[in-house]
This record gives sequence, C-alpha cells and structure tokens, in this order.
Amino acid sequence: MLTENFVREMKKTIEEVRPLSSSGNVADYIPALKKSDPSIVACSIFTKDGACHRFGDVGTTFTIQSVSKVLTLALAIEDHGKEYVFERVGMEPTGDPYYSMARLELTDQSKPLNPMINAGALTITSMIKGNTKEEKFERILHFIRELADDEDITYNKDVAQSEYDTTDKNRALAYYLKANNILEGDIDEVIDIYTKQCSIEMSCCHLARIGQVLGNRGYSTLHERELVSPRIAQLVKTFMVTCGMYNSSGQLAIEAGIPSKSGVSGAILGTLPGGIGIGIYSPALDEKGNSVVGIELLKRISQNYDLSIF
Ligand code: DON
Repeated sequence: MLTENFVREMKKTIEEVRPLSSSGNVADYIPALKKSDPSIVACSIFTKDGACHRFGDVGTTFTIQSVSKVLTLALAIEDHGKEYVFERVGMEPTGDPYYSMARLELTDQSKPLNPMINAGALTITSMIKGNTKEEKFERILHFIRELADDEDITYNKDVAQSEYDTTDKNRALAYYLKANNILEGDIDEVIDIYTKQCSIEMSCCHLARIGQVLGNRGYSTLHERELVSPRIAQLVKTFMVTCGMYNSSGQLAIEAGIPSKSGVSGAILGTLPGGIGIGIYSPALDEKGNSVVGIELLKRISQNYDLSIF
C-alpha cells in the first residue's frame, strides 16, 4: 500500500475526519489532561518497507495512558510466565467501563476480568520485577524505549503527579484487590509506578514503531532482533482485539478489525500482521473514553486498504 496515492489519500482522510473532534470531549478527571487541544489529529503508519509516514499535526507528543497496559502485560509475562499472571488476572472482556469495580465483588476471588481494565492493569503493574519502585519503573521505561526505538523517551512529570494526586478510584481498586490477596505490595508504590507508566510521553511515530514490533511477532526490524517473544506478542494482540477498546472492542473488531489499544489521552496503538504499526493521537473522546477521530480513522484505514485481520 506504499504508493504516492496512499500518502495523498491518507492526507485527505485525516482532513475528512478532523471535524469529528468537535463531537467529543478531552478527559478531565486527570486535571493535567484538561489542557489538551481537542482539535489535534495526528497519525503515523509504519509500513512493511520500514518507513514511518506521518500525517496531520505531526510532531505532537502525548502521554500514552492505557496504551501502556499492553506493554506492562508483555513485561509481566516475561517476568513471571503466563500461568502466574493469569492465576491473578482473567482473560475475558467485561463490557464495562475501564474504571469499573462492579464485577470485582461478583467474580470468583475478586480476580479482575482482564489486564486492560484498570483493576487488571494495576495488578499487572504490581507484578513488574525490581528491587525498588524506581528500578521497576525504569524497567518499564527501558522496555518501551526499545520497542519505540528511542532512548530519549521519558514520562511527563506534571501528568504523572496530577494523576497520582487525584486517582482515588484507582487507589480504591488497588486496596480492594490487596484485601482479596490479588494484588501484592505497597499501594502507594503501585500507584506511583502505574501513574508514571501512563504518563510516558511519545509521538504517533513511536506508537507506530511499537505496533510494527507487535505486528512482526515481536521482532524489531529497526533493532534486527526479537524484543518480545512471538507467543507473548500473539497473546497481547489478542487482548487488544477483545478488550483493547473496552466496551467498544466488539464494534471496532467488526468495523475495523485492527488490534488496537486506546488511552484516555486520545492515543491509539494499532498493529497488523506483517509488521504494520499505527499510531493515532486525537484527544477528543467519546463517552467510552476512546478517541472519536481515532476510531473513525481506524475504520477508514481498514476499509480503504482492506486491512481487517478477519
Ligand atoms: O488509570 C487511568 O484512569 C488512566 N491513567 C488511564 C485510563 C485510560 O487511558 C483509559 N483509556 N481509554
């Protein structure tokens, strides 16, 4: 699909979907995210030939928020193996919002239903190995720097602090999970690492590179080596399809068929077999917490280039 036509069509598509941003709202429950400009639309596509095409408001950076959950899941499985991880966190979609705690009281042993909802993601973060909280976060950051192929990637301290100071719902989830022996360790430490991982800042091209590695069964063509084992890459991509867009996952699977993970900043990571990576950023969100423009872009990219995996 790498032709001059592709570039021209993509530029046109971006401008067609841009007006949709006025129908969404930027997240405001993390105070620092309120400052985001809702009209921004940026998209990068890492194509099979190794080029990263950039469209829209290129150069924009953003915090990845829940996109980080896919990456900490991969790291936790590398650290402990699949059995340990899935004894504590389930594999089923919820159909509930990402912050929901309702099912923790209803499910067997309070096990979070999957690693993409906050309850599951907090449990996953608590599993990351390291002697100190600094070392644990450094391992997450190092892993993401490798995947995105940029040693300069870091986290946004203002956004991390803003969430750390206000994230009472996540604290409540973490305490509840600890009381039920699902999550282990110090809650302040887990919240500190989790809010930092959500605040890791990058561009769409970085996201597209991560998508390239996952789409390529964990092999990075930039590093010319495997960064994630093929089995773990397969596993996290399956979660992206079934739970990556929360209670819009089913609809997106039908309408786009691109394994994707959203973040409340308006970021979306997409990945396709053969090593096509997609990074999208547009901060106006729908009522489910997914980027309005991002969802429409994924559908159009899929339809225009026949990319559904199904
Ligand atoms: O924990 C939170 O609420 C945020 N740091 C991340 C949530 C998020 O990105 C949900 N995605 N749409």
